Amino acid sequence: MAEQIIIGCDHAAFEMKESVKAFLIEDGYDVNDIGAFNGESVDYTDFGIKVASEVSRGNFYRGVLICGTGIGMSIVANRFPGVRAALCGDLFSTIMSRRHNDANILVMGARVIGEGLALELVKTWLNTPFEGGRHQKRLKKIDQINMKDIYSP
Ligand code: RB5
Repeated sequence: MAEQIIIGCDHAAFEMKESVKAFLIEDGYDVNDIGAFNGESVDYTDFGIKVASEVSRGNFYRGVLICGTGIGMSIVANRFPGVRAALCGDLFSTIMSRRHNDANILVMGARVIGEGLALELVKTWLNTPFEGGRHQKRLKKIDQINMKDIYSP
């Protein structure tokens, strides 16, 4: 069965999202596009919440989020338990976000990088495995952060 990927964007990234979606479908992925569906102004927050909540619930193993800079989407997505959203604009960070961080959402900025690089990053991200080992231990520590211990010790 084709791997399912959930993708979302805001108005600033509508065109890039369409290119990424077409690229993924061409590559055999089953893409769930939650919008935006045109270039009319929307709040990136709403789309970030949709994608991140689905990944957080385990309904999708991986997601892609794109806004103008990628910053808003990554701030939103990383609020969700179990989500490891990586804002990437270069190949090295993209590779490391998988190898060391086991990122489950790739975030990009459509006003920061061009379409050619974005497609290359998506392809690389999807094909780079997590290394596990010492990195797994660090991810576990993230999941174990207890805000109550930090703010009311
Ligand atoms: C929209 O103008 C822009 O603020 C948004 O796409 C994103 O860059 C937010 O972080």
